Amino acid sequence: MEDLWIEKYRPSKIEDIIGQDQVVSRIKSYIKEKNIPHMLFAGPPGTGKTTTAMVVARELFGDSWKENFLELNASDDRGIKIVRDTIKEYCKIMPNNPLGFKILFLDEADYMTDEAQAALRRTMENYTKTTRFIISCNYSSKIIEPIQSRTAIFRFKGISKEDIIKALIKILNNEKIKYDNDALELIAEMSMGDLRKAINILQVSAAFSEKITTSAVYEASGTVNKEWAKNVIQLALRGEIIKAKEMLEDSMIRQGISGQDVVEQFHRVIFDLNVPDSVKADLAYRLGEVDFRISEGGREIIQIESFLGYLYMKGSEKGR
Ligand SMILES: Nc1ncnc2c1ncn2[C@@H]1O[C@H](COP(=O)(O)OP(=O)(O)OP(=O)(O)O)[C@@H](O)[C@H]1O
Ligand SMILES: [Mg+2]
Repeated sequence: MEDLWIEKYRPSKIEDIIGQDQVVSRIKSYIKEKNIPHMLFAGPPGTGKTTTAMVVARELFGDSWKENFLELNASDDRGIKIVRDTIKEYCKIMPNNPLGFKILFLDEADYMTDEAQAALRRTMENYTKTTRFIISCNYSSKIIEPIQSRTAIFRFKGISKEDIIKALIKILNNEKIKYDNDALELIAEMSMGDLRKAINILQVSAAFSEKITTSAVYEASGTVNKEWAKNVIQLALRGEIIKAKEMLEDSMIRQGISGQDVVEQFHRVIFDLNVPDSVKADLAYRLGEVDFRISEGGREIIQIESFLGYLYMKGSEKGR
């Protein structure tokens, strides 16, 4: 695939950020003063948190923004080590710009342990003069109180259907691609306020068909889901059960995908797996049991994770 549209169309100016009027107007006044406090960006996925942090850096530092901005993803390494090593090392570097500070952007901080967050808070205090922190999370309630009270909190909202459709039309005009209006409606409906997801579905749809139609959209979103299901199953079979569990929980808890949907998607990929037919049959049988227990009122996440556990055991039987 060519360039990813989510990157190609990521705004670089504050005016181009969509649907976050309150956030944007507060940010603008900080930029005018050429000074920012520590900030906490909270809100659902794909609504512009990372983008806004980058825009702040661009507006403050101009062409040299990359030298004055570090993005870290806390979920890669949730422990205290990231604070002790990477974050502190960055804080110790003296800023090389007229404003006298640089920015550290910490994505997905709600995945950090409380212990790591406590260490983070101390680091924030020690290096306030030279490093401003922008901390991003989906749920501000998962951030410890001492950090919440020391940061300016910005709440990002899900992007409205109208705004999503407008953004998609802009892209399609630029790419010179034709579309049906109801196909864009459908994408906006499916993406539930997540503009990243909307743009991704749009790009995959465009790869399927010359014109964006509802059937191209259905085909595209099916493919996206199928890829996801395959990844989770393969991780569990390979023994990477924790990663598989995280991907599952990310979808079910963070994005609200139902257990029944997950079972359905798993079911669609089982027969495509690169395992002996006897294993496929066995997995299909187990998945049927999971489906039944869920319909009888069993807790979805527990049932599906037990299936991941089963995949793990099957994988180790094969000697991985
Ligand atoms: N408010 C917005 N205005 C314009 N584009 C947006 C906005 N929100 C998301 N996008 C588009 O979606 C892509 C992903 O957005 P971004 O990385 O800022 O999301 P996020 O809020 O940081 O999500 P996550 O919680 O998953 O980290 C951007 O590159 C951009 O193309
Ligand atoms: Mg982000």
